[in-house]
Amino acid sequence: MQYRHAPAANHAALDAVLASAPGRPTLPVRLTVELAGRARAHLPVDPPLTVWDPCCGAGVTLTVLGLLGAGITRLVGTDADPEPLDLARRNLALLDPGGLAARAADLDALAARHDKPSYADAATAARTLVPASTPTWSVAVADARDTAAVRGALAGASPDDAGPDLVLADLPHGIRTTWAPPPARAAAADDGREPGGEFLRAVVTLLRPEAVVVAVGRGRTVALPPGVRPLERVRVGHRAAVLVRAGALREG
Ligand SMILES: C[S@@+](CC[C@H](N)C(=O)[O-])C[C@H]1O[C@@H](n2cnc3c(N)ncnc32)[C@H](O)[C@@H]1O
Repeated sequence: MQYRHAPAANHAALDAVLASAPGRPTLPVRLTVELAGRARAHLPVDPPLTVWDPCCGAGVTLTVLGLLGAGITRLVGTDADPEPLDLARRNLALLDPGGLAARAADLDALAARHDKPSYADAATAARTLVPASTPTWSVAVADARDTAAVRGALAGASPDDAGPDLVLADLPHGIRTTWAPPPARAAAADDGREPGGEFLRAVVTLLRPEAVVVAVGRGRTVALPPGVRPLERVRVGHRAAVLVRAGALREG
């Protein structure tokens, strides 16, 4: 993939500013910015954006978008697992007034306690960063396939209640992030072949037709339901992503 929206840059300091946890994989910063840029290019106009991450984990994807992406007014994160949501709140709080300064002070204290220059570098980065957007944000527990729970989490997500403009999801993978069975029908028939198709079918019921969905997976491709044409497909290293319009998915 050729990067069109995210110039090469060293994001090591930003990575250090963001809170993360072992076993909780996150998307690289540059890839996050690139995929969001591509998705925005497919929106009819570039509106003040509401972005939803239905597998938000530690909230890194959303926070990166708020820090580096302009014109974002609302970020909504949901995840089936409540455990990472405290991390997500910590990360998203960086976008609040004084959030980066508070994180810089924490990092300074860590640098002093552990005599580690990397913390001091991260503190400098936190002090230097100016968020490109200052969105409101919320996080909530919701299985992406539980439409009622997700609808509740998204209520009031955008000023006109039109719902998210852009969905960006790094589909679950790895030991701590397996695709959880749907709560009400864990034992029901689930083809179980790949998470992408089922995830997409579920989230699209909550989106208006023009919205753009970006789903990222590990492997060669992210499957779409039969007959659904993507806007774009990209491959980067061991990841694949598909960009698809909600309306196309709904008709598929
Ligand atoms: C690859 S991680 C996403 C990382 C996230 N983008 C971040 O910035 O930290 C995948 C996430 O999907 C969540 N997940 C797994 N099954 C889910 C489901 N059925 N509905 C919603 N989230 C789910 C996991 O709990 C995990 O946090």
